[in-house]
Amino acid sequence: MRKFFYFFTLLPLSFSACNPDFSKVIDSPSGKVSLQFELADGVPLYSVKKQGINVILPSKLGFEFNNIPALDGNFKVASVNTSSFDQTWEQPWGEQRQIRNNYTQLDVMLVEKNNLQRKLNIIFKVYDDGVGFRYIIPEQHNIGSIEIADEKTEFALAGNDSAWWIGAYQPERYEYLYKKTAISEMDTAHTPLTIECLNGLFVSVHEANLTDYASMTVYRKEGNTLKCDLVPWADGTKVYGKAPLTTPWRTIQIAETPGGLNTSYLVLNLNDPCALNDISWIKPAKYIGIWWGMHIDKYTWAQGPKHGATTKNMKYYIDFAAENGFDAVLAEGWNYGWDTQWWADTSLFDYTTPYPDFDIAEITRYAASKKIAIIGHHETGSKVKNYENQMDSAYKFYRHHNIGSVKLGYVGHKMDRKEWHHGQFGVRHYRKATELAAKNHLAINIHEPIKQTGLRRTFPNLMAAEGARGQEYNAWSTDGGNPPEHETILPFTRILAGPMDFTPGIFNISIPEKPYNQVNTTLAKQLALYVVLYSPLQMAADIPENYTGNPAFSFIKDVPVDWEETRVLYGKIGDYITTVRKDKYSDNWYLGSITDENSREFDIVLSFLEPGRKYTATIYADGQNAHYQGNPLSISINKQIVGSENVLPVKLAAGGGIAISFKPVN
Ligand code: NOJ
Repeated sequence: MRKFFYFFTLLPLSFSACNPDFSKVIDSPSGKVSLQFELADGVPLYSVKKQGINVILPSKLGFEFNNIPALDGNFKVASVNTSSFDQTWEQPWGEQRQIRNNYTQLDVMLVEKNNLQRKLNIIFKVYDDGVGFRYIIPEQHNIGSIEIADEKTEFALAGNDSAWWIGAYQPERYEYLYKKTAISEMDTAHTPLTIECLNGLFVSVHEANLTDYASMTVYRKEGNTLKCDLVPWADGTKVYGKAPLTTPWRTIQIAETPGGLNTSYLVLNLNDPCALNDISWIKPAKYIGIWWGMHIDKYTWAQGPKHGATTKNMKYYIDFAAENGFDAVLAEGWNYGWDTQWWADTSLFDYTTPYPDFDIAEITRYAASKKIAIIGHHETGSKVKNYENQMDSAYKFYRHHNIGSVKLGYVGHKMDRKEWHHGQFGVRHYRKATELAAKNHLAINIHEPIKQTGLRRTFPNLMAAEGARGQEYNAWSTDGGNPPEHETILPFTRILAGPMDFTPGIFNISIPEKPYNQVNTTLAKQLALYVVLYSPLQMAADIPENYTGNPAFSFIKDVPVDWEETRVLYGKIGDYITTVRKDKYSDNWYLGSITDENSREFDIVLSFLEPGRKYTATIYADGQNAHYQGNPLSISINKQIVGSENVLPVKLAAGGGIAISFKPVN
């Protein structure tokens, strides 16, 4: 029995142990990461090491199809090319202005040894922070139309490591609390999948440039091997296409610390450069909006006595935004379609007819007079056909009213009640919306999105997305809301995919309007989230009344949304994180540090500040007896002069945090 067990668990290793028909190793630019490609009995395999340590053991590659024989073995190598690349590019907005794209490349052309002689091209890019690879099925006379039944890509991990994961194929899409389990306990999971390896490394498996293909989920196949599981169409086919067919990049980011994953830009580097000529209209923004009021039942989206998006209320929000230095105001519930159980029934939204009490011309005129932008909103209820029928006129309608950005929503289990959001159907739709929005000079922020895969590099109007449990769960979730550890997990999981519209800044933490709900953080932690959870669109999510007169509001007014540089100083997934970012337009630095349900005391080394310079640190810390449950509002705000040589002792309350601005004295 025991012998039998060993035979199967060691099977992946035996692939590379037998004499490969072909083997090639390439190293990343500094030699830290190496990739080996092999053909073993005609079967293509890859493996990855970091400084000699196994990260991915020999793992299979290839495809099965519905309409043609599999392309997964019986290969010989037709050609191999290696090259290298080193270029630094600038993000139009982002967590880091300059990004270095530096890799070595291995381009392998395989050809079948049988009569068909079909070709498969695999390209590997090896970076100092990981590996990306993609398949190209070239144009060839033996392959025309393609129906992918299975992508055979595997990720054979070196041990029974721990993974932070959310389950795929769930009704609420990506909106679940992350679980940490051994790989052997994992169900089919979405990516980015974050892995804490037994050898001490941190790995993220994800994909880049997801374009006209199904998104990749992964499941444990056997032993410690994860296998790609493409999200199917309703008919079971994974991907429809034709040769030449190029897949997204499969990405494996590797870091020595969790923070190293957070500041790895490999996924962005594997996307195409900006496709838009003029991007001057795309601007990061801090915004408020008629939003939280609906989630706490103060207002309604639908018409009636509590209707939120009225001309009068919008003017009140616009005034508040102008007085407090915000850039924009979001309006939800402004258009016909909300008056029934829109998420459940067949009612359809209308995107060009405002409710009678929402005078869009007057609102946009008033906003412009106060230099405030209006953010539009299109909830689709996942009725994609209805939305696509109106998309063109809807975007033109907003442009006509000088509205330059729109939040999209796709509440609903399946698109058009049939297709997964993250299958090829959804991928095509979200791409279409992004491109059409760009054509109409509209920036977009997608809720219930397809996971991000770095397309913001190519289309910088795709600014933010939800794609995880956001703040709104604290307003109405029946499971007690987001636990304090949630925000200490997001920077190492969801946010590896791209910016998240989490909507921080709830000041009335006990939510008096909702007796059974509360926000599970202290007030200081709400401030720290503006630095910890990156987004170029940051909302001050609470209703204006709750900010008025509160001195803690000055941090939200002050904190930038566009950064020169980002560093994660300390981090332990699910426990704590400390992030510092330098403002893109000044020499100011901002720090956010948050903890889970445990209070913590530690020292922050200020060596990130410019040596020899003095800074005024304005510190928003948890008050003496602050606690996210009993005493969340206790906050202490004080100033101190500090320099890069100083160490700042800090104390975070249970569920707490600290937010600090550092401004040069001279
Ligand atoms: C869910 C979104 O996440 C939320 O922000 C929005 O208010 C509602 N859908 C309604 O569109």
